[in-house]
Amino acid sequence: MSPLAPEWLAHPADANDVPAGVWPDGTLRTESGQLGIAGVSAEEILERFGSPVYVIDEEHARVRARMISAAFTSELARIGTTARIYYAAKAFLSTEIARWVTAEGLGVDVCSGGELAVALAANVPPARIGMHGNNKSLAEIERAVSVGVGTIVIDSEIEITRVAEAAVRHGRIQSVRLRVNSGVHAHTHEFLATAHEDQKFGVPLERAAALVETIRSHASLNFLGLHCHIGSQIFGTDGFAESARRLLGVQAQLLESGEVPELNLGGGFGIAYTRADDPSDIRDIARHIADIVSSECQRLGIPVPVVALEPGRFIIGGAGVTLYTVGTIKNVEVTLDAGGGTAIRKYVSVDGGMSDNARPALYGADYSVRLANRVSAAEPALVRVAGKHCESGDILVYADYLPADVSPGDILAMPATGAYCWSLSSNYNYLGRPPVVAVKDGAARLIVRGETEADLLSRDVGIDPANLGAS
Ligand SMILES: Cc1ncc(COP(=O)(O)O)c(C=O)c1O
Repeated sequence: MSPLAPEWLAHPADANDVPAGVWPDGTLRTESGQLGIAGVSAEEILERFGSPVYVIDEEHARVRARMISAAFTSELARIGTTARIYYAAKAFLSTEIARWVTAEGLGVDVCSGGELAVALAANVPPARIGMHGNNKSLAEIERAVSVGVGTIVIDSEIEITRVAEAAVRHGRIQSVRLRVNSGVHAHTHEFLATAHEDQKFGVPLERAAALVETIRSHASLNFLGLHCHIGSQIFGTDGFAESARRLLGVQAQLLESGEVPELNLGGGFGIAYTRADDPSDIRDIARHIADIVSSECQRLGIPVPVVALEPGRFIIGGAGVTLYTVGTIKNVEVTLDAGGGTAIRKYVSVDGGMSDNARPALYGADYSVRLANRVSAAEPALVRVAGKHCESGDILVYADYLPADVSPGDILAMPATGAYCWSLSSNYNYLGRPPVVAVKDGAARLIVRGETEADLLSRDVGIDPANLGAS
Protein backbone atom coordinates (compact mmCIF):
# COMPACT_ATOMS: atom_id res chain seq x y z
CA MET A 1 0.00 0.00 0.00
CA SER A 2 1.49 3.35 -1.01
CA PRO A 3 1.82 6.00 1.72
CA LEU A 4 0.63 8.44 -0.97
CA ALA A 5 -2.76 6.73 -1.28
CA PRO A 6 -5.62 8.80 0.16
CA GLU A 7 -7.55 7.22 3.01
CA TRP A 8 -10.74 6.72 0.99
CA LEU A 9 -8.98 4.72 -1.73
CA ALA A 10 -8.98 0.99 -1.00
CA HIS A 11 -6.19 -1.16 -2.43
CA PRO A 12 -8.00 -3.19 -5.11
CA ALA A 13 -7.91 -6.95 -5.25
CA ASP A 14 -8.00 -6.50 -9.03
CA ALA A 15 -6.99 -3.24 -10.71
CA ASN A 16 -8.86 -4.31 -13.88
CA ASP A 17 -12.36 -4.46 -12.39
CA VAL A 18 -15.15 -2.13 -13.51
CA PRO A 19 -17.41 -1.75 -10.49
CA ALA A 20 -21.12 -1.36 -11.15
CA GLY A 21 -22.42 2.00 -10.07
CA VAL A 22 -19.28 3.84 -11.21
CA TRP A 23 -19.27 2.59 -14.82
CA PRO A 24 -22.12 2.80 -17.34
CA ASP A 25 -24.52 -0.13 -17.08
CA GLY A 26 -23.38 -1.51 -20.43
CA THR A 27 -19.66 -1.78 -19.50
CA LEU A 28 -18.00 -5.19 -19.68
CA ARG A 29 -14.58 -6.70 -20.22
CA THR A 30 -14.55 -8.60 -23.52
CA GLU A 31 -12.93 -12.03 -23.78
CA SER A 32 -9.69 -10.43 -24.89
CA GLY A 33 -9.75 -8.19 -21.82
CA GLN A 34 -10.77 -5.02 -23.61
CA LEU A 35 -13.23 -2.66 -22.09
CA GLY A 36 -16.49 -2.69 -23.99
CA ILE A 37 -19.18 -0.05 -23.51
CA ALA A 38 -22.64 -1.02 -24.76
CA GLY A 39 -20.99 -3.72 -26.83
CA VAL A 40 -18.37 -1.53 -28.51
CA SER A 41 -14.71 -2.02 -27.61
CA ALA A 42 -12.50 0.86 -26.54
CA GLU A 43 -10.02 0.07 -29.31
CA GLU A 44 -12.71 0.19 -31.98
CA ILE A 45 -13.92 3.55 -30.71
CA LEU A 46 -10.41 5.01 -30.73
CA GLU A 47 -9.62 3.60 -34.16
CA ARG A 48 -12.74 5.15 -35.64
CA PHE A 49 -12.89 8.45 -33.80
CA GLY A 50 -9.38 9.16 -32.54
CA SER A 51 -8.04 9.86 -29.06
CA PRO A 52 -9.13 11.29 -26.71
CA VAL A 53 -12.85 10.73 -27.10
CA TYR A 54 -15.94 11.14 -24.94
CA VAL A 55 -18.19 8.07 -25.04
CA ILE A 56 -21.82 8.20 -23.90
CA ASP A 57 -23.83 5.05 -23.20
CA GLU A 58 -27.22 6.08 -24.57
CA GLU A 59 -29.21 3.41 -22.80
CA HIS A 60 -27.63 4.27 -19.46
CA ALA A 61 -28.66 7.92 -19.85
CA ARG A 62 -32.18 7.00 -20.91
CA VAL A 63 -32.58 4.50 -18.06
CA ARG A 64 -31.49 7.15 -15.55
CA ALA A 65 -33.96 9.63 -17.04
CA ARG A 66 -36.72 7.05 -16.70
CA MET A 67 -35.55 6.06 -13.23
CA ILE A 68 -35.70 9.55 -11.73
CA SER A 69 -38.91 10.33 -13.51
CA ALA A 70 -40.58 7.11 -12.30
CA ALA A 71 -39.31 7.54 -8.74
CA PHE A 72 -40.71 11.06 -8.34
CA THR A 73 -43.85 10.38 -10.35
CA SER A 74 -44.87 7.45 -8.17
CA GLU A 75 -43.84 9.01 -4.85
CA LEU A 76 -45.59 12.29 -5.64
CA ALA A 77 -48.69 10.44 -6.86
CA ARG A 78 -48.75 8.79 -3.43
CA ILE A 79 -49.13 12.26 -1.83
CA GLY A 80 -51.67 13.38 -4.42
CA THR A 81 -49.58 15.46 -6.77
CA THR A 82 -47.40 15.23 -9.86
CA ALA A 83 -43.73 15.62 -10.77
CA ARG A 84 -42.36 17.88 -13.48
CA ILE A 85 -38.81 16.89 -14.39
CA TYR A 86 -36.49 19.05 -16.47
CA TYR A 87 -33.11 17.82 -17.66
CA ALA A 88 -30.47 20.40 -16.62
CA ALA A 89 -28.81 21.06 -19.97
CA LYS A 90 -25.75 22.66 -18.38
CA ALA A 91 -24.54 19.17 -17.46
CA PHE A 92 -24.16 18.29 -21.15
CA LEU A 93 -26.26 19.34 -24.09
CA SER A 94 -26.23 18.39 -27.73
CA THR A 95 -29.23 17.98 -29.99
CA GLU A 96 -29.00 14.21 -29.62
CA ILE A 97 -29.03 14.34 -25.82
CA ALA A 98 -31.96 16.78 -25.95
CA ARG A 99 -33.84 14.28 -28.13
CA TRP A 100 -33.15 11.41 -25.72
CA VAL A 101 -34.41 13.23 -22.66
CA THR A 102 -37.48 14.66 -24.34
CA ALA A 103 -38.31 11.21 -25.73
CA GLU A 104 -38.15 10.01 -22.11
CA GLY A 105 -40.76 12.59 -21.18
CA LEU A 106 -38.55 15.23 -19.55
CA GLY A 107 -38.48 18.95 -20.13
CA VAL A 108 -35.20 20.79 -20.72
CA ASP A 109 -33.81 23.48 -18.45
CA VAL A 110 -31.50 25.94 -20.24
CA CYS A 111 -29.59 28.87 -18.82
CA SER A 112 -28.26 30.79 -21.81
CA GLY A 113 -29.22 31.78 -25.33
CA GLY A 114 -26.79 29.15 -26.61
CA GLU A 115 -28.38 26.32 -24.64
CA LEU A 116 -31.79 27.54 -25.76
CA ALA A 117 -30.62 27.50 -29.39
CA VAL A 118 -29.45 23.88 -29.09
CA ALA A 119 -32.73 22.79 -27.48
CA LEU A 120 -34.70 24.53 -30.23
CA ALA A 121 -32.45 23.03 -32.90
CA ALA A 122 -33.32 19.62 -31.44
CA ASN A 123 -37.02 20.45 -31.84
CA VAL A 124 -37.68 20.42 -28.11
CA PRO A 125 -41.19 21.86 -27.85
CA PRO A 126 -40.66 25.37 -26.41
CA ALA A 127 -43.43 24.79 -23.87
CA ARG A 128 -41.23 22.09 -22.33
CA ILE A 129 -38.24 24.41 -21.93
CA GLY A 130 -37.44 26.26 -18.71
CA MET A 131 -35.07 29.22 -18.83
CA HIS A 132 -32.70 30.15 -16.00
CA GLY A 133 -29.80 32.48 -15.45
CA ASN A 134 -28.76 35.15 -12.97
CA ASN A 135 -27.95 37.62 -15.73
CA LYS A 136 -30.05 36.83 -18.77
CA SER A 137 -29.43 39.42 -21.43
CA LEU A 138 -32.34 41.40 -22.81
CA ALA A 139 -31.85 39.54 -26.09
CA GLU A 140 -32.00 36.18 -24.30
CA ILE A 141 -35.22 37.16 -22.52
CA GLU A 142 -36.68 38.46 -25.78
CA ARG A 143 -35.88 35.25 -27.61
CA ALA A 144 -37.12 32.98 -24.81
CA VAL A 145 -40.44 34.85 -24.63
CA SER A 146 -40.83 35.10 -28.39
CA VAL A 147 -40.32 31.37 -29.01
CA GLY A 148 -42.75 30.58 -26.20
CA VAL A 149 -40.63 28.86 -23.55
CA GLY A 150 -42.82 27.28 -20.91
CA THR A 151 -41.26 29.00 -17.90
CA ILE A 152 -38.69 31.61 -17.07
CA VAL A 153 -37.02 31.61 -13.68
CA ILE A 154 -36.81 35.22 -12.51
CA ASP A 155 -33.55 35.61 -10.65
CA SER A 156 -33.62 39.26 -9.55
CA GLU A 157 -36.03 42.13 -9.03
CA ILE A 158 -34.91 43.92 -12.19
CA GLU A 159 -35.86 40.90 -14.30
CA ILE A 160 -39.53 41.14 -13.37
CA THR A 161 -40.14 44.16 -15.59
CA ARG A 162 -37.76 42.89 -18.26
CA VAL A 163 -39.72 39.65 -18.66
CA ALA A 164 -43.11 41.35 -18.21
CA GLU A 165 -42.35 43.92 -20.93
CA ALA A 166 -41.04 41.27 -23.32
CA ALA A 167 -44.26 39.29 -22.75
CA VAL A 168 -46.35 42.39 -23.53
CA ARG A 169 -44.35 42.97 -26.74
CA HIS A 170 -45.05 39.41 -27.85
CA GLY A 171 -48.66 39.37 -26.72
CA ARG A 172 -48.00 36.50 -24.34
CA ILE A 173 -48.70 35.64 -20.75
CA GLN A 174 -45.36 34.29 -19.60
CA SER A 175 -45.26 31.74 -16.78
CA VAL A 176 -42.47 32.52 -14.33
CA ARG A 177 -40.88 31.15 -11.20
CA LEU A 178 -38.95 33.16 -8.65
CA ARG A 179 -35.55 31.86 -7.60
CA VAL A 180 -34.97 32.24 -3.89
CA ASN A 181 -32.06 31.46 -1.62
CA SER A 182 -33.34 28.97 0.86
CA GLY A 183 -30.18 29.40 2.92
CA VAL A 184 -29.42 25.71 2.50
CA HIS A 185 -26.19 24.60 0.83
CA ALA A 186 -25.72 20.92 0.39
CA HIS A 187 -22.80 18.87 -0.83
CA THR A 188 -22.45 15.09 -0.65
CA HIS A 189 -23.34 14.14 2.94
CA GLU A 190 -23.64 17.43 4.73
CA PHE A 191 -25.74 20.48 4.37
CA LEU A 192 -25.28 23.90 5.81
CA ALA A 193 -28.21 26.14 6.63
CA THR A 194 -27.93 29.88 7.07
CA ALA A 195 -30.43 32.69 7.16
CA HIS A 196 -28.60 34.95 4.72
CA GLU A 197 -26.62 33.74 1.80
CA ASP A 198 -23.62 35.44 0.25
CA GLN A 199 -24.28 34.48 -3.34
CA LYS A 200 -25.19 35.77 -6.79
CA PHE A 201 -28.19 33.55 -7.51
CA GLY A 202 -31.77 34.33 -6.59
CA VAL A 203 -33.29 36.63 -4.01
CA PRO A 204 -33.42 36.22 -0.23
CA LEU A 205 -36.38 34.16 0.92
CA GLU A 206 -37.69 37.05 3.04
CA ARG A 207 -37.97 39.21 -0.11
CA ALA A 208 -40.10 36.60 -1.90
CA ALA A 209 -43.52 37.88 -0.77
CA ALA A 210 -42.85 41.44 -1.95
CA LEU A 211 -41.42 40.31 -5.27
CA VAL A 212 -44.24 37.86 -5.93
CA GLU A 213 -46.65 40.71 -5.34
CA THR A 214 -44.83 42.69 -8.03
CA ILE A 215 -44.89 39.68 -10.37
CA ARG A 216 -48.62 39.30 -9.79
CA SER A 217 -49.18 42.98 -10.53
CA HIS A 218 -48.12 42.35 -14.15
CA ALA A 219 -50.96 41.03 -16.28
CA SER A 220 -48.38 39.61 -18.70
CA LEU A 221 -46.89 37.30 -16.05
CA ASN A 222 -48.28 34.11 -14.55
CA PHE A 223 -46.63 33.21 -11.24
CA LEU A 224 -46.02 29.46 -10.96
CA GLY A 225 -44.04 29.18 -7.77
CA LEU A 226 -40.71 29.41 -5.99
CA HIS A 227 -37.50 27.85 -7.19
CA CYS A 228 -34.30 26.93 -5.40
CA HIS A 229 -31.19 24.90 -6.09
CA ILE A 230 -29.17 23.91 -3.06
CA GLY A 231 -26.00 22.52 -4.59
CA SER A 232 -24.65 19.57 -6.46
CA GLN A 233 -23.38 16.04 -6.00
CA ILE A 234 -25.75 15.57 -3.06
CA PHE A 235 -26.06 12.02 -1.67
CA GLY A 236 -28.73 12.39 0.99
CA THR A 237 -32.09 14.07 1.35
CA ASP A 238 -31.78 16.24 4.46
CA GLY A 239 -30.73 19.35 2.52
CA PHE A 240 -33.66 18.98 0.10
CA ALA A 241 -36.01 18.40 3.01
CA GLU A 242 -34.84 21.49 4.90
CA SER A 243 -35.07 23.59 1.78
CA ALA A 244 -38.58 22.31 0.96
CA ARG A 245 -39.66 23.11 4.52
CA ARG A 246 -38.37 26.67 4.26
CA LEU A 247 -39.93 27.30 0.85
CA LEU A 248 -43.29 25.83 1.81
CA GLY A 249 -43.43 28.17 4.81
CA VAL A 250 -43.27 31.09 2.38
CA GLN A 251 -45.60 29.30 -0.03
CA ALA A 252 -48.32 29.33 2.67
CA GLN A 253 -47.91 33.09 2.93
CA LEU A 254 -48.05 33.54 -0.87
CA LEU A 255 -51.24 31.44 -1.09
CA GLU A 256 -53.08 34.07 0.96
CA SER A 257 -53.10 36.37 -2.07
CA GLY A 258 -53.09 34.07 -5.09
CA GLU A 259 -52.30 30.68 -6.54
CA VAL A 260 -48.96 28.90 -6.20
CA PRO A 261 -49.31 25.73 -8.21
CA GLU A 262 -45.67 24.57 -8.15
CA LEU A 263 -42.56 24.18 -6.05
CA ASN A 264 -39.22 23.74 -7.84
CA LEU A 265 -36.46 22.15 -5.78
CA GLY A 266 -33.76 22.28 -8.49
CA GLY A 267 -31.19 19.57 -9.18
CA GLY A 268 -28.09 18.27 -7.47
CA PHE A 269 -28.66 14.51 -7.13
CA GLY A 270 -25.26 12.86 -6.77
CA ILE A 271 -23.56 10.00 -8.60
CA ALA A 272 -20.60 7.69 -7.90
CA TYR A 273 -17.31 8.92 -9.35
CA THR A 274 -15.25 6.35 -7.48
CA ARG A 275 -16.01 3.17 -5.59
CA ALA A 276 -15.93 5.20 -2.35
CA ASP A 277 -19.03 7.19 -3.38
CA ASP A 278 -22.33 5.77 -2.21
CA PRO A 279 -25.27 7.96 -3.22
CA SER A 280 -28.69 7.12 -1.79
CA ASP A 281 -31.12 5.28 -4.01
CA ILE A 282 -33.18 7.84 -5.96
CA ARG A 283 -36.39 6.07 -4.87
CA ASP A 284 -35.48 6.71 -1.22
CA ILE A 285 -34.67 10.34 -2.02
CA ALA A 286 -38.00 10.74 -3.84
CA ARG A 287 -39.88 9.08 -0.97
CA HIS A 288 -38.27 11.31 1.65
CA ILE A 289 -38.90 14.50 -0.34
CA ALA A 290 -42.52 13.49 -0.97
CA ASP A 291 -43.01 12.72 2.75
CA ILE A 292 -41.62 16.10 3.79
CA VAL A 293 -43.68 18.00 1.20
CA SER A 294 -46.80 16.14 2.27
CA SER A 295 -46.31 16.57 6.01
CA GLU A 296 -45.34 20.24 5.71
CA CYS A 297 -48.35 21.02 3.52
CA GLN A 298 -50.58 19.23 6.00
CA ARG A 299 -49.05 21.12 8.93
CA LEU A 300 -49.46 24.44 7.11
CA GLY A 301 -52.94 23.56 5.85
CA ILE A 302 -52.05 24.24 2.20
CA PRO A 303 -52.59 22.21 -0.98
CA VAL A 304 -49.73 19.99 -2.11
CA PRO A 305 -48.05 21.69 -5.10
CA VAL A 306 -46.72 20.10 -8.26
CA VAL A 307 -43.04 19.43 -7.54
CA ALA A 308 -40.53 20.35 -10.25
CA LEU A 309 -36.92 19.09 -10.32
CA GLU A 310 -33.92 19.72 -12.54
CA PRO A 311 -31.47 16.80 -12.48
CA GLY A 312 -28.46 17.00 -14.79
CA ARG A 313 -25.56 14.94 -13.47
CA PHE A 314 -27.87 12.16 -12.23
CA ILE A 315 -28.94 11.45 -15.82
CA ILE A 316 -25.86 12.01 -17.93
CA GLY A 317 -22.90 11.86 -15.49
CA GLY A 318 -22.55 8.12 -15.15
CA ALA A 319 -23.35 7.52 -18.82
CA GLY A 320 -20.01 9.02 -19.90
CA VAL A 321 -16.55 7.50 -20.17
CA THR A 322 -13.55 9.37 -21.58
CA LEU A 323 -10.91 7.36 -23.41
CA TYR A 324 -7.32 8.61 -23.54
CA THR A 325 -4.02 7.27 -24.80
CA VAL A 326 -1.01 7.11 -22.50
CA GLY A 327 1.94 9.16 -23.73
CA THR A 328 4.60 9.36 -21.04
CA ILE A 329 5.12 7.80 -17.63
CA LYS A 330 7.34 9.14 -14.83
CA ASN A 331 8.10 7.67 -11.44
CA VAL A 332 8.48 10.75 -9.26
CA GLU A 333 10.12 10.52 -5.84
CA VAL A 334 7.97 12.46 -3.39
CA THR A 335 9.07 13.64 0.08
CA LEU A 336 6.58 12.55 2.72
CA ASP A 337 5.46 14.78 5.60
CA ALA A 338 7.13 14.80 9.02
CA GLY A 339 10.35 13.06 8.11
CA GLY A 340 8.53 10.05 6.72
CA GLY A 341 11.09 9.48 3.98
CA THR A 342 10.06 9.33 0.35
CA ALA A 343 7.64 7.44 -1.82
CA ILE A 344 7.24 7.02 -5.55
CA ARG A 345 4.29 8.48 -7.36
CA LYS A 346 3.69 7.16 -10.86
CA TYR A 347 2.61 10.02 -13.13
CA VAL A 348 0.80 8.65 -16.17
CA SER A 349 0.28 11.40 -18.75
CA VAL A 350 -2.42 11.24 -21.37
CA ASP A 351 -3.36 13.11 -24.53
CA GLY A 352 -6.09 15.28 -22.97
CA GLY A 353 -6.45 16.99 -19.62
CA MET A 354 -8.07 19.98 -17.98
CA SER A 355 -9.36 21.21 -21.36
CA ASP A 356 -11.68 18.18 -21.66
CA ASN A 357 -12.29 17.69 -17.92
CA ALA A 358 -11.80 20.77 -15.76
CA ARG A 359 -13.51 19.31 -12.69
CA PRO A 360 -10.43 17.95 -10.89
CA ALA A 361 -8.57 21.25 -11.42
CA LEU A 362 -11.64 23.37 -10.62
CA TYR A 363 -13.08 21.52 -7.65
CA GLY A 364 -10.50 18.90 -6.68
CA ALA A 365 -12.99 16.31 -7.95
CA ASP A 366 -11.90 12.68 -7.66
CA TYR A 367 -12.25 10.21 -10.52
CA SER A 368 -11.20 6.64 -11.13
CA VAL A 369 -9.41 5.05 -14.08
CA ARG A 370 -8.85 1.67 -15.71
CA LEU A 371 -6.81 0.19 -18.53
CA ALA A 372 -9.18 -0.15 -21.46
CA ASN A 373 -7.22 -2.02 -24.13
CA ARG A 374 -6.23 -5.02 -22.01
CA VAL A 375 -6.22 -6.55 -18.57
CA SER A 376 -2.99 -7.18 -16.73
CA ALA A 377 -2.00 -9.44 -13.88
CA ALA A 378 0.70 -6.99 -12.78
CA GLU A 379 0.57 -5.71 -9.19
CA PRO A 380 -1.68 -2.67 -8.73
CA ALA A 381 0.39 0.53 -8.59
CA LEU A 382 -0.83 3.87 -7.26
CA VAL A 383 -0.96 6.34 -10.17
CA ARG A 384 -1.77 9.95 -10.79
CA VAL A 385 -3.20 10.57 -14.25
CA ALA A 386 -2.07 13.93 -15.62
CA GLY A 387 -3.03 15.81 -18.73
CA LYS A 388 -0.76 17.49 -21.29
CA HIS A 389 -1.45 21.13 -20.42
CA CYS A 390 1.05 23.69 -19.17
CA GLU A 391 -0.31 23.73 -15.61
CA SER A 392 0.95 21.61 -12.75
CA GLY A 393 -2.69 21.44 -11.59
CA ASP A 394 -3.64 19.71 -14.83
CA ILE A 395 -4.57 16.43 -13.16
CA LEU A 396 -7.38 14.11 -14.26
CA VAL A 397 -7.19 11.43 -11.59
CA TYR A 398 -5.45 12.33 -8.34
CA ALA A 399 -5.19 8.76 -7.12
CA ASP A 400 -6.19 5.31 -8.30
CA TYR A 401 -4.54 1.98 -8.88
CA LEU A 402 -3.59 0.68 -12.32
CA PRO A 403 -1.62 -2.45 -13.14
CA ALA A 404 2.05 -1.53 -12.61
CA ASP A 405 2.92 -2.41 -16.22
CA VAL A 406 0.78 0.45 -17.62
CA SER A 407 2.75 1.67 -20.64
CA PRO A 408 2.85 4.32 -23.35
CA GLY A 409 0.25 3.46 -25.98
CA ASP A 410 -2.18 1.90 -23.48
CA ILE A 411 -5.74 3.20 -23.57
CA LEU A 412 -7.10 4.56 -20.31
CA ALA A 413 -10.80 4.90 -19.54
CA MET A 414 -12.17 7.36 -17.00
CA PRO A 415 -15.79 6.71 -15.98
CA ALA A 416 -18.46 9.18 -14.86
CA THR A 417 -17.38 11.93 -17.25
CA GLY A 418 -20.78 12.52 -18.83
CA ALA A 419 -21.64 15.65 -16.84
CA TYR A 420 -19.78 18.96 -16.66
CA CYS A 421 -16.82 17.73 -18.72
CA TRP A 422 -17.69 18.43 -22.35
CA SER A 423 -19.85 21.35 -21.22
CA LEU A 424 -16.94 22.90 -19.28
CA SER A 425 -14.35 22.09 -21.93
CA SER A 426 -11.98 24.67 -23.39
CA ASN A 427 -9.33 25.07 -26.06
CA TYR A 428 -6.56 25.74 -23.54
CA ASN A 429 -3.16 25.34 -25.19
CA TYR A 430 -5.04 25.13 -28.51
CA LEU A 431 -6.20 21.60 -27.97
CA GLY A 432 -9.32 20.78 -29.96
CA ARG A 433 -12.31 19.50 -28.05
CA PRO A 434 -12.61 15.71 -28.44
CA PRO A 435 -15.54 14.21 -30.33
CA VAL A 436 -18.56 12.79 -28.51
CA VAL A 437 -19.61 9.29 -29.51
CA ALA A 438 -22.84 7.60 -28.47
CA VAL A 439 -22.78 3.82 -28.06
CA LYS A 440 -25.79 1.56 -28.08
CA ASP A 441 -26.45 -2.12 -28.89
CA GLY A 442 -22.96 -2.74 -30.22
CA ALA A 443 -22.87 0.34 -32.46
CA ALA A 444 -21.02 3.63 -32.06
CA ARG A 445 -22.04 6.86 -33.73
CA LEU A 446 -20.68 10.37 -33.66
CA ILE A 447 -23.00 12.88 -31.99
CA VAL A 448 -20.65 15.86 -31.78
CA ARG A 449 -17.57 15.96 -33.98
CA GLY A 450 -14.20 16.84 -32.50
CA GLU A 451 -12.51 20.14 -33.25
CA THR A 452 -9.87 20.16 -35.94
CA GLU A 453 -6.83 22.40 -36.27
CA ALA A 454 -8.81 24.34 -38.88
CA ASP A 455 -11.53 24.94 -36.28
CA LEU A 456 -8.92 26.20 -33.86
CA LEU A 457 -7.52 28.67 -36.39
CA SER A 458 -10.82 29.68 -37.89
CA ARG A 459 -11.62 32.63 -35.64
CA ASP A 460 -8.19 34.26 -35.71
CA VAL A 461 -8.71 37.02 -38.27
CA GLY A 462 -4.97 37.74 -38.51
CA ILE A 463 -4.01 34.43 -40.05
CA ASP A 464 -2.50 34.62 -43.53
CA PRO A 465 -4.52 32.12 -45.59
CA ALA A 466 -1.28 31.22 -47.37
CA ASN A 467 -0.03 29.72 -44.09
CA LEU A 468 -3.07 27.55 -43.47
CA GLY A 469 -2.33 23.88 -43.77
CA ALA A 470 1.39 24.66 -44.16
CA SER A 471 2.52 22.22 -41.51
C1 LIG B 1 -30.55 25.94 -11.08
C2 LIG B 1 -29.91 24.63 -11.34
N1 LIG B 1 -30.70 23.56 -11.61
C3 LIG B 1 -30.18 22.36 -11.86
C4 LIG B 1 -28.81 22.15 -11.84
C5 LIG B 1 -28.29 20.78 -12.14
O1 LIG B 1 -27.53 20.24 -11.12
P1 LIG B 1 -27.07 18.72 -11.18
O2 LIG B 1 -26.43 18.51 -12.51
O3 LIG B 1 -26.09 18.60 -10.06
O4 LIG B 1 -28.28 17.90 -11.01
C6 LIG B 1 -27.96 23.21 -11.54
C7 LIG B 1 -26.50 23.03 -11.50
O5 LIG B 1 -25.71 23.86 -11.21
C8 LIG B 1 -28.53 24.50 -11.29
O6 LIG B 1 -27.76 25.54 -11.02
